[in-house]
Amino acid sequence: MPRVKGHVAHQCSSCGTCAPRWTGRCANCGEWNTLVAREVPIGAEVSLTSLRDAGRDEAPARSTGVAELDRVLGAGLVDGSTTLLFGEPGVGKSTLALMVLHARASAGEAVVLVAAEESPAQVARRARRLGEVPPGLDVVPATDVAALEQVLYRYRPAVMVVDSISALSDPSIAAGAGSVPQVRHAAERLCRAARSVGTALVLVGHVTKDGDLAGPRTLEHLVDTVVRIEGDRHGTLRTLRCLKHRFGPTDEVGLMEMGPAGLVDLVDPAAQFAGSALDVPGVVVGVALDGSRATRVEFQALVTACAGPPRRVAHQVSSQRLSLLLAVLDARCGVATASLDVFAATAGGLAANEPGVDAALALAVASAAQGFAVDRDLAVVGEVGLAGELRAVAGVSRRVREAQRLGARRVIVPVAGSPEAGQDVELVACASLADVLAVARNSTKLAKTC
Ligand code: TYD
Ligand code: MG
Repeated sequence: MPRVKGHVAHQCSSCGTCAPRWTGRCANCGEWNTLVAREVPIGAEVSLTSLRDAGRDEAPARSTGVAELDRVLGAGLVDGSTTLLFGEPGVGKSTLALMVLHARASAGEAVVLVAAEESPAQVARRARRLGEVPPGLDVVPATDVAALEQVLYRYRPAVMVVDSISALSDPSIAAGAGSVPQVRHAAERLCRAARSVGTALVLVGHVTKDGDLAGPRTLEHLVDTVVRIEGDRHGTLRTLRCLKHRFGPTDEVGLMEMGPAGLVDLVDPAAQFAGSALDVPGVVVGVALDGSRATRVEFQALVTACAGPPRRVAHQVSSQRLSLLLAVLDARCGVATASLDVFAATAGGLAANEPGVDAALALAVASAAQGFAVDRDLAVVGEVGLAGELRAVAGVSRRVREAQRLGARRVIVPVAGSPEAGQDVELVACASLADVLAVARNSTKLAKTC
């Protein structure tokens, strides 16, 4: 853009307001003949960059060595960037971060683990579970921010993991370790240092079950990337999700399993979520969409006589949606469960809370309540409205493809937004939940008669 030498503004000598052009009367205070031309000095030199050229020299993302984490990050970690990895205690943050260091050190890079909470011996024990510890993976037991800044400037590691950010402190700040001012200050300083030396920095942070916002989450705007690791403490399934990413999209979901030798990529979750092989009422195949990832999920329901007040137990499905679906089943489809116990769950521990699985869940309950088994090669996709209508859902084609890939021969889809039929799969477009029930019952009869 061409530069201009100076800029002239017209300022009112009465009230101080500036106007771009001279006028006889000040638009602000109404005084006459008070506007005086004044040169606005050009301050510190700033240079402009054409957007066409900006970022062409940006560092590329480099693989973390963990395929599911790479999937969530788009490609991997960008040199000089900062990633916040957070989750509840015990979910596997230290394990995942260590796996990245293991992989990068095995590829011949110098990497550092800042053990701010555990002793090097404890960390080494975890590292050995993951396999032989490669040379080039160093550990520094430190909590002082200035010392860690020195590590970055002096050694310029390819990756540095800080486990965890809450344990760092700077003695010149009065607030205690783990407090918001300390955590923010530490993150700010280390981010800046990592950017200037080109180290990919990973900050590990804990949150409590009710999402303790005072801690690491206050760093979200400060860092380039935020990854959350989620999972049920009693199960082995772990979900990786990107909540913020300056270098790519955030809608990929990673699935991993915690095993005796660390986290293992769950590249094809089909086996994990295969569910029951029993041909019993109450089992229906649906497809959940999480970000851009479609996953086949088996819904299971059990409807039984109750001894006391009726119970509704929802495991890995939304209890609110379950209540809504029970009401719709009763009012629009004649399936009454008001005086019965209803249990609903997914097989394999995957949480399926989005509306696109409504119809599958509702059909599972109806099938359990009325005692008809649903074909396992029938998959059901669709949201259920209060009028009992089957509503269009996001990513319907992707869900159909996933159902088909995993053996579905027929897929029930909403009439609205129903995709083009693919090869080897029959699409059955339904307008209402009552239609879905009718199709499922008929296909059972057909299956039984042939
Ligand atoms: P950890 O990574 O320490 O969790 P976080 O840093 O999020 O608190 O590990 C979590 C749990 O995983 C821990 O209870 C032990 C278990 N674990 C395994 O089952 N296999 C393994 O290989 C490792 C290293 C840990
Ligand atoms: Mg840990």
